[in-house]
Amino acid sequence: MNQYKNNETKLSFFENLAIKIIKQGPIPKHIAFIMDGNRRWATNFNLNKSEGHEFGSEKLSKILKWCPKIGIKEVTVYAFSIENFKRSQDEVNAIMKLFIRKLLEKEQELHEKGIKVKVIGNLDMLPNDVQKVVADAMLSTKDNSKLNLNIAFAYSSREEITNSIKTIVEGVENNELILEDLDNVLIDECLYTNQSSPVDLLVRTSGEMRFSDFLLWQVPSTVFYFTTSLWPDFTLWHLLAAVFYYQRNYTQAKALKEHYNQTRPAITNNPRVDKFLANLEEKRCTKLVEMNRLIKS
Ligand code: FPP
Repeated sequence: MNQYKNNETKLSFFENLAIKIIKQGPIPKHIAFIMDGNRRWATNFNLNKSEGHEFGSEKLSKILKWCPKIGIKEVTVYAFSIENFKRSQDEVNAIMKLFIRKLLEKEQELHEKGIKVKVIGNLDMLPNDVQKVVADAMLSTKDNSKLNLNIAFAYSSREEITNSIKTIVEGVENNELILEDLDNVLIDECLYTNQSSPVDLLVRTSGEMRFSDFLLWQVPSTVFYFTTSLWPDFTLWHLLAAVFYYQRNYTQAKALKEHYNQTRPAITNNPRVDKFLANLEEKRCTKLVEMNRLIKS
């Protein structure tokens, strides 16, 4: 069990060598993880489910240490889906508590490591105490730039896309947009992931080969890597294997990225849309500040 608790960040000679070698090839800028298998892992060790999630969250801390060493700039993790609200109240409460505790515990470390945290999902579905910690974490790390960490929490892709379209419909109703402005770039810009770079590599652990309503819009040129390792068992070697798989599929992924032109334009060449998007960003920021302030008082 110690190997799972071990928070040692120093890598061995062979691990460093492997990283050096992998860095000779193309490195995914943005990697997403479906962190699956915490409960099965806990069962294997006769532990309860929340202990499985605890070890799972420790693995995420390690991922955040390994990724910058490899040259990965953005990490998105699926921590809690809207579907997960259907789990037992005890388990849901335990995950909420763990999430709050980890965000508070890691606050200092996030700053030291220059990590910018963004929680993507329907934040209104979260209890007040979780909203407060989320708003705090996002606001206090917003100027960090070494690594972007997006935590999908109360997230589902279909809800995200629906929300994006609702935002646009409201814009049309309020005469901020016209219907002709609606295109895939605008839908993209109204998603929770609007500031993210394209997802280059998506990794799912535990042997399941499903997307479970995760980033469905964002992955037209993404390389998918599935491993049978349960999330708490995921090691640097699994991560390097995933990156190596990406490198072997790089030419095809690059061609697809060019095909879908997945480079985010700084402006859309449409002043009306640019103004709408700037307002949307401001509204989202104001909402976070209010979430933080209202809950404090
Ligand atoms: C998937 O395994 C895991 C989850 C649904 C929860 C993951 C949550 C965390 C790791 C805590 C989040 C904390 C932070 C700081 C982001 P599973 O429960 O579906 O396991 P199974 O597939 O074996 O049933």
